Amino acid sequence: MAYVGRGIRRIAINTGGGDAPGLNAVIRAATLAGLSEGWEVLGIRRGYMGVLEPDVDGEPGVFPLTAQAVRGITHLGGTILGTTTRGNPFGLEVRKPDGTWGKVDRSDEIVESFQRLEIDALVAIGGDGSLAIAHALHRKGLPVIGVPKTIDNDLRATDVTFGFQTAVEVATDAIGRLHSTAEAHQRVMVVQVMGRHTGWIALESGMAGGADVILIPEVPYYLDRIAEKVRERERHGRRFSIVVVAEGASPAGGQPSYVDGSGRYGGIADRLADEIEVVAGKETRPMVLGHIQRGGSPIAYDRNLALRFGAAAVRCIREGSLGTMVALQGADVRAVPLAEAISEIKRVPLDNDLVVSARQLGISLGD
Ligand code: F6P
Repeated sequence: MAYVGRGIRRIAINTGGGDAPGLNAVIRAATLAGLSEGWEVLGIRRGYMGVLEPDVDGEPGVFPLTAQAVRGITHLGGTILGTTTRGNPFGLEVRKPDGTWGKVDRSDEIVESFQRLEIDALVAIGGDGSLAIAHALHRKGLPVIGVPKTIDNDLRATDVTFGFQTAVEVATDAIGRLHSTAEAHQRVMVVQVMGRHTGWIALESGMAGGADVILIPEVPYYLDRIAEKVRERERHGRRFSIVVVAEGASPAGGQPSYVDGSGRYGGIADRLADEIEVVAGKETRPMVLGHIQRGGSPIAYDRNLALRFGAAAVRCIREGSLGTMVALQGADVRAVPLAEAISEIKRVPLDNDLVVSARQLGISLGD
């Protein structure tokens, strides 16, 4: 591109997809590290929308990130840049003159705008969807470095994503609290946690929170095995049970539960509670943890991982390692090719130590 080759002078940062605790820490670290290189740092609001809709409610879509702008944000949830799950520039939803909805590709406009704004590199903080968009833009000539974000922890190239451990803490605390009320009422409690395609949050929070049954998308469940676990506990005088279910879990030979017409996962806790009540013959209550797992302050682990990722992204730009994603591998943060990072999601392997240990502890996985 025209602006490549003259050295780095200006970089931009955006956050795309669902938020995760730690986004602000990445923004702070990348900004401060970028400023200390002598670069100008710009923030883009709402993914790429700040470029396409420069001013919304008098707020500029692209604005300078100064040391002042990122002061005191390491511990804050959300993102000072805003985010969107509907901002794919390759297929933006638009209302057509006849009132119906269609999609338009505005990716060329993004690349042109970056050239016009003389942005030399973009730090794109996102999950699998946002990183795939970043990769496609990189292939169109926009120099990108990706930073992996998702509470689901389902990105293959990195050992962990920031936000995941915070989500596990929130879910573990909730599961722990449900024990006393479940025991008091001699009920089964079904707790639905996030995890569309993978069961990392369910598995880690279920183990730590003392769940009796953990259902994950990787292991299709049988209702009678869940009921059997509930009855077995009953026989040992444990007249309550805690079932933790990932939102994307499904029965063997069946389909996951979706929110009607939206394509979003939802409803598995209600469905299971109804079914367990009938099959196990025990009063059962569903509970959906939802977005509380993504909100609020990141725990120290996620803050540090996020700060390290932000700083590493700037090192990658300085070293010309673009079209890559920063990733935690063992104790080190490395750059891996974006193409590799988005090639496949990281499911829970069935021989994973967590899975094996859960079974040894007598936790049912519903299979
Ligand atoms: O990708 C993270 C995630 O938390 C999923 O587990 C969940 O299905 C999804 O985001 C929900 O996001 P939203 O309601 O913001 O579309």
